[in-house]
Amino acid sequence: MLSIVGGAPVEGRVTVRGAKNSVPKSMVAALLTSKPCRISNIAEVRDIDVVSRLITALGGTVARDGDTMEITADTLQAPSPEELEEAHGQSRIPILICGPLLHRLGAVTIHQPGGCEIGPRPIDMHLDALKSFGAVVEELPEVIRLTADRLRGCKLTLPYPSVGATEQVLLTGVLAEGETELSNAAVEPEILDLILVLQKMGAIISVQPGRVIHIDGTRSLRAFTHRSMPDRLEASSWACAALATNGCVSVSGVAQLDMMTFLNVFRKAGGEFDVSGETITFYRVANLLRPLALETDVHPGFMTDWQPPLVTALTQAQGVSVLHETVYENRLGYTHALNSLGANIQTFRECLGPSPCRFGRRNHLHSAVVVGQTKLQGGDLYVPDLRGGFSYVIAALVADGVSRVHNARLIERGYESFRDKLVALGVELL
Ligand code: EPU
Repeated sequence: MLSIVGGAPVEGRVTVRGAKNSVPKSMVAALLTSKPCRISNIAEVRDIDVVSRLITALGGTVARDGDTMEITADTLQAPSPEELEEAHGQSRIPILICGPLLHRLGAVTIHQPGGCEIGPRPIDMHLDALKSFGAVVEELPEVIRLTADRLRGCKLTLPYPSVGATEQVLLTGVLAEGETELSNAAVEPEILDLILVLQKMGAIISVQPGRVIHIDGTRSLRAFTHRSMPDRLEASSWACAALATNGCVSVSGVAQLDMMTFLNVFRKAGGEFDVSGETITFYRVANLLRPLALETDVHPGFMTDWQPPLVTALTQAQGVSVLHETVYENRLGYTHALNSLGANIQTFRECLGPSPCRFGRRNHLHSAVVVGQTKLQGGDLYVPDLRGGFSYVIAALVADGVSRVHNARLIERGYESFRDKLVALGVELL
């Protein structure tokens, strides 16, 4: 549990390192070759530990030296059912090993996905994509078994630009025989970072206009050395903490380009920022924050992971903000806890935004109206998921008195040393 004394602005400097949603994918890419691969700018977050353990269970070695990691997967083997279950229970990354293992072993077993707090998160697009490459997919009650003699390039179109399914296609297509053309692909910066890794390994991948990715399959791939892109989600979370508490936080190690959409919205809400090289300093200029109409979307839209911290800050805006969440059907559960501290957030089934989305007719509470400014009072908060968890921390920072954030361990999945960083920003922890 984390006990936070709220009511004071956060002030100071934090550094972010490699992206939690990028590093593990580069680690999986290392399974495509038997040669040692090096990744640097690695943060100490739990998702990376989970993938390290999985690679070890697969017979590879993972050697860490400071913020650098060397992965060698010269021989691979199937992990034990226990090892497999452990990995799948903690992260979604393990489903991405399918392509590399099918190429190298001809077979792979993964777990049936479980639901999570932000939605059921099915893997139908992943399995359909793998079938298009020629994999035989056998869905059993607990596990899914995939086999393939030889994977062949194909033409496929995703029903929705899924980040994970696009990565699955990339990690499979690079060693498939012939060409692959993926339409309606996701093009998030984390995907481009993976493409850079694969290009260093010898792959030929082009991102074409209109969400089309073209891959020329190759017979073998070589080692790579890669510095991971910075974690733009962690950076935006600290920015929202500064915005909400009327503080000032300098975030080092970031890239403005990856945060362009966030920065525009941050400024519209009454925030300001100064960019100096790889450091962005976030603060508030307006005395009171301004309300916003916000819609989440795939890149280059406003990211769904930026939404919970920003909505928490908007409880401090003067007026009515409207949110339309179009990526996950169930990402507004965290708002109930904010209301218990005194926020005024109502959720709706209707699409309250310009783009009708997949969830509008399906009875999902995926829009919200936030009425501000509300005074928050400290209380007990139970972390539901990673981003929801960080928004509880922001609410606790804004609230008067002490808040107890339970299950704060979940936040460590994606935020490195976040307790130390809070202390460095002047936050009193009990
Ligand atoms: N979807 C399907 N079927 C599939 C795959 C996805 O219906 O086979 C749906 C999902 O249920 C969701 C939507 O498509 O409604 C988008 O999911 P996507 O596949 O794009 O997400 P992901 O790859 O599972 C990654 C990040 C998420 C981030 C999303 C969107 C990682 C490990 N996770 O998830 O990050 O929200 O892309 O940008 O890269 C987080 O960091 O807290 C987090 C949840």
